Amino acid sequence: MTVLNVSQYDESYFEGDVGRGGYTSYSKWIKTLSKYAPYESSKGDTWKNPAARLVKHYKINGSLLELGCAYGHTLKQLQDADIKDTHGIDVSQFAIDNSVASNTVVGDAIESLKRYEDNKFDFIYSAEFLQCINEKDLPPLISEMNRVAKHRQFHIINIAVSPKYYNIKNMTEWINYQWMSNTILVPITNIQKEYIVN
Ligand SMILES: C[S@@+](CC[C@H](N)C(=O)[O-])C[C@H]1O[C@@H](n2cnc3c(N)ncnc32)[C@H](O)[C@@H]1O
Repeated sequence: MTVLNVSQYDESYFEGDVGRGGYTSYSKWIKTLSKYAPYESSKGDTWKNPAARLVKHYKINGSLLELGCAYGHTLKQLQDADIKDTHGIDVSQFAIDNSVASNTVVGDAIESLKRYEDNKFDFIYSAEFLQCINEKDLPPLISEMNRVAKHRQFHIINIAVSPKYYNIKNMTEWINYQWMSNTILVPITNIQKEYIVN
């Protein structure tokens, strides 16, 4: 299964090329066409709900790193909710140039994590990021996330997008990786469902 390469996370990916597995108008919080992702709306709930859930349900406090943060919509929601020690990394220069949040930087997730000390962030969060990672890179990425996260990880995973562009697997396969204890995995097709692993 192949995934997109770094140069493909460009303007057309975020603002118009839904045909390559991207978005129609990410800056307006409109995600993929309802034809491709009927569970998503254009009202911004995709970002607001996880931010509210992290704050109210999981009661995060402390530092948080988001991987694959794109324009930083969730980070902005968290920062507005007074969760200030938040940081984002995305491999796309275009996405970071259009970031709406503070503390977002361009970087490959695995390479960037290597630069952090153990337990650097209280929480690591991602949404629709893990399926962008090559099969061979997933175990080292998860190992690095486990090392850098002090308390808990939260990952929303898309298990339903095209395998032409993403590394698609079912939830059982995702759960079977070596996660740190209490990691929460949520399939975007059923955002109310959470799997607490290990
Ligand atoms: C499907 S988009 C999801 C964006 C956002 N998290 C959301 O839910 O709307 C995947 C994001 O991951 C980023 N990404 C892909 N591979 C990456 C990597 N190796 N390191 C960091 N970011 C990566 C892409 O640039 C893109 O912004």
